[in-house]
Amino acid sequence: MSNTRSALITGVTGQDGAYLSQLLLEKGYEVHGILARRSSDTLWRLRELGIENEVRLVDGDLTDLSSMIRAIETSKATEVYNLGAQSFVGTSWQQPLLTAQVDGVGALNVLEAVRIANPEAHFYQASTSEMFGLIQAEMQDEKTPFYPRSPYGVAKLMAHWATVNYRESFKMHASSGILFNHESPLRGIEFVTRKVTDAVARIKLGQQRELRLGNIDAKRDWGFAGDYVEAMWLMLQQPTADDYVVATGLTTTVRDMCHIAFRHVGLSPDDHLVIDEKFFRPAEVDVLLGNPGKAKAKLGWSPKTSLEQLITMMVDADMRRLTK
Ligand code: NAP
Ligand code: GDD
Repeated sequence: MSNTRSALITGVTGQDGAYLSQLLLEKGYEVHGILARRSSDTLWRLRELGIENEVRLVDGDLTDLSSMIRAIETSKATEVYNLGAQSFVGTSWQQPLLTAQVDGVGALNVLEAVRIANPEAHFYQASTSEMFGLIQAEMQDEKTPFYPRSPYGVAKLMAHWATVNYRESFKMHASSGILFNHESPLRGIEFVTRKVTDAVARIKLGQQRELRLGNIDAKRDWGFAGDYVEAMWLMLQQPTADDYVVATGLTTTVRDMCHIAFRHVGLSPDDHLVIDEKFFRPAEVDVLLGNPGKAKAKLGWSPKTSLEQLITMMVDADMRRLTK
């Protein structure tokens, strides 16, 4: 019998799925990932990390319970990471039902599939600081009450409580990682950091003049995705399952994040930034600031990458892509 550990990742083609695959492959895992069939190329992140042929892709969709059960059976996974989601907050007002189906019911499907096919497997739920929404404490931790401000936050709250409930009801090893914003060169272009770093690179190269943004007074606790996937893995190695906030403990405005990006290429946002009503949201999460104290104490996890390092890494990656 092989001693190779096997993991199943939903959302394997996303930012976190790619970094988590890389981490688990480095640790010697057999990595299986759910591939939700799309007409466009969704494998670019795995390709950029050079692991496209190492991840074993399984057809499936979070909204299809039978495909989740089959994936758990065929992968023989002892660790299941549910990272799949409609993860863009802005879209969740345009597609609230799809967001609820994928992010809320989809998580329940994975929990059910684990319960049916391998209840001993350790389960990770990708929960989010968006659940804090209209914040009820200056610094948010595991005990801070939730107040979601978007259909995305509402759907994720269902998934979070389903995870807690399955842990308590069925004694499943089900953990919820309440992760604050985390970014990387593999971030989707619709999210504000990548929108900014891509635009800064284009402006520097003379391919674009303006950068149009919405609420630049919003504050976020931004970290590096490569650091955050380590926290996910650590949660599933603990003797008992639990919930953890994963954050840097620092918060910065979108405006100041823009300054870092422009400054890196010797430009100023004042010459290019345009505020556009189109990018404001029906309800905003004004500020997020996480307290990673429990993750530090119990998991021995700490962020390693500063916001300055993160944003300059992203600008450099976008410059490289555009000049290739
Ligand atoms: P992402 O880049 O948007 O990736 C989302 C993944 O979900 C993609 O692989 C996507 O597949 C997949 N997916 C979407 N709908 C699906 C469906 N119906 N069935 C199966 N898979 C589906 O997101 P991320 O930034 O990596 O985030 C990973 C998870 O952490 C998400 O659940 C997100 O909500 C949560 N989270 C993220 C952050 C953050 O700051 N990044 C913070 C807290 C929590 P395609 O590639 O085919 O579209
Ligand atoms: N995307 C975007 N585009 N955001 C903008 C823009 C713009 O043009 N202008 C201002 N913002 C502001 C948004 O209003 C928000 O306050 C902030 O920038 C961050 O927006 P996003 O980068 O889209 O991320 P998010 O905070 O809404 O959601 C991300 O983080 C969550 C964790 O807190 C996503 O990754 C979620 O999936 C994740 O759960």
